[in-house]
Amino acid sequence: MSGIALSVLLESCGVTDHITAQISGSDLIIPVSAFQIKKNNRAQFKKYLVVQNEKLQFPICIYRFDENNYSALYMRCTHQGAELQVFGDKLQCAAHGSEFNNKGEVMNDPATENLRKFPVTILNDQIKISLA
Ligand code: FES
Repeated sequence: MSGIALSVLLESCGVTDHITAQISGSDLIIPVSAFQIKKNNRAQFKKYLVVQNEKLQFPICIYRFDENNYSALYMRCTHQGAELQVFGDKLQCAAHGSEFNNKGEVMNDPATENLRKFPVTILNDQIKISLA
């Protein structure tokens, strides 16, 4: 891949991030600020974050649609349980090629079930993902 293509790719992937979040009670807690990117003095937001915690067997991908709308998706393929990878607005499974959209809906088989989704609430600049 040429240097130019790579830098364009990195630019478009500048919205990616992985973080480790705390669990409080049965909630995974992520500060809203974890989505913020400061660019040219303007607040911008990452499209998604991949969130991990040692108590989680698989990471959770949180997509941000706007300040009040997020989806929290368990990154475990519903076909045979492999870990998914995020590519922009979709999650893909390297095992047999299933794909899911950013709301966890199956887009490509062999998986037939949507991803597990967790309820999300936003309070005091914190995103709470209910794992209960
Ligand atoms: S385990 Fe994901 S497609 Fe088979």
